Amino acid sequence: MPWRLWRNPSLSTIRKQIIGINQKVSISDGRRVRYINLDNAATTPVLKPVLDQVLDFLPWYSGVHRGSGHKSLVSTAAYDAARVRIAEFFGADPDYHVVIFSKNTTEAINLLASRLQFRPDDMVLTTLMEHHSNDLPWRRVAAVIRANVHDEGSLDEQDLERKLSLYHHRIKLLAITGASNVTGWLNDIHRLAALAHSYGIPVMVDGAQLAPHRPIKLLPPDDPRHIDFLAISGHKLYAPFGIGVLIGPRRVFEQGSPAFTGGGTVNLVTPQAVQWAAPPAKDEAGSPNVIGAIALATALGILDDLGLDQIALHEQSLTDYALTQLQRIPRLKLYGSTQTQDERRLGVMSFELEGYHHALVAAVLAFYGGIGVRSGCFCAQPYIQRLLGLDATAMARLTREHLSGKAKHLPGLVRISFGIYNTVRELDYLVKTLQDIPSRAPEYWLQQLSWDDNLECYVPRKPGFNLREEFSF
Ligand code: ALA
Repeated sequence: MPWRLWRNPSLSTIRKQIIGINQKVSISDGRRVRYINLDNAATTPVLKPVLDQVLDFLPWYSGVHRGSGHKSLVSTAAYDAARVRIAEFFGADPDYHVVIFSKNTTEAINLLASRLQFRPDDMVLTTLMEHHSNDLPWRRVAAVIRANVHDEGSLDEQDLERKLSLYHHRIKLLAITGASNVTGWLNDIHRLAALAHSYGIPVMVDGAQLAPHRPIKLLPPDDPRHIDFLAISGHKLYAPFGIGVLIGPRRVFEQGSPAFTGGGTVNLVTPQAVQWAAPPAKDEAGSPNVIGAIALATALGILDDLGLDQIALHEQSLTDYALTQLQRIPRLKLYGSTQTQDERRLGVMSFELEGYHHALVAAVLAFYGGIGVRSGCFCAQPYIQRLLGLDATAMARLTREHLSGKAKHLPGLVRISFGIYNTVRELDYLVKTLQDIPSRAPEYWLQQLSWDDNLECYVPRKPGFNLREEFSF
């Protein structure tokens, strides 16, 4: 049912709107059980009305800004309308901001890194809790300095203030996550923005983890708490069709040359010269992902209708329940804030089960419970190293062992993360499965499961385990 025909959207019935909610998967005893997805921080499933909207559009699918036929014009209008809706959702000002479509948050941040003009001494201030995507792109263009985090993973704001005050004359940008993809820690982005702006430093928020769970508003540019740049991904917003967004001041993208050049980026080309198109076209080389844009705009409209405040309440209650239940499991250590009713965190939490490798725990959950989680470092290795207390000596040893091939796995954690459709019942099942793991020694589980270098996880040793039976072309 197209979104516009979907009346009374409500969190209480949202499971019916999640594609694959009843998907069964094989587990080790041969049964097929309903999959429980607790890996929403990595990627969310598709909302059915999003897919319906895409299907509704597909008969009109054609080249965008590249044709004068009727379908092309409809596709172009749909693409442009999606951009307007996305801008509205984040409170962007059409006269001041530009919304540039990308593939995902990673590409959006790389795009920004390549478009800001850096001088040799410039610095980017970020934090130790960042996803690699908000750290590595900056290393290529500037000196990166990082605000520390406290032992339990929260941002050390005093350290951030100290670094701002010490290096403000060199800092070109504060690049900070809205929420940690490891501990769910929420940064006070508007307060930190006001602080950075007091030194004349703009702010880029990695909104990948924040946008699905809390409202984000850029705020008017004359408000000291405003966000200058925002990057988000559709695949964490129930619209996984290969779309992401970078929003920022139009004037920034009017300057300089685009990172990718080619079709759609120009007004005039001669064999000798080029005159770039105005943003956003200038930074959207090649035929655009109109389907992704429509999907994202639709998904954001649905989140708006459901109410991000209601979503936050629902996910907060799941988080509190999980915190209480997980802390009762012997030998399970939670990282991040363990307080219930802590408004400074999201429903993303990481833990370890003493004596059991993180990848083994994740595999037992998968193949004995049908539960999907993520384990490892979650593309945030410096943060994980800090949370695990791995000092420089430990890291030097680990690096040596890794280079020599001795260390197969990096130290890491198991992560669960909630979406709008998860339930307490699913958490009860997770807890029960986790409780069962220590009833057997790790060696027992290692006899059942073997490491797969290609999939980079443990899989059942049993003959008959074949992923292609689940889906193949
Ligand atoms: N950034 C995603 C995660 O945290 C992929 O899992």
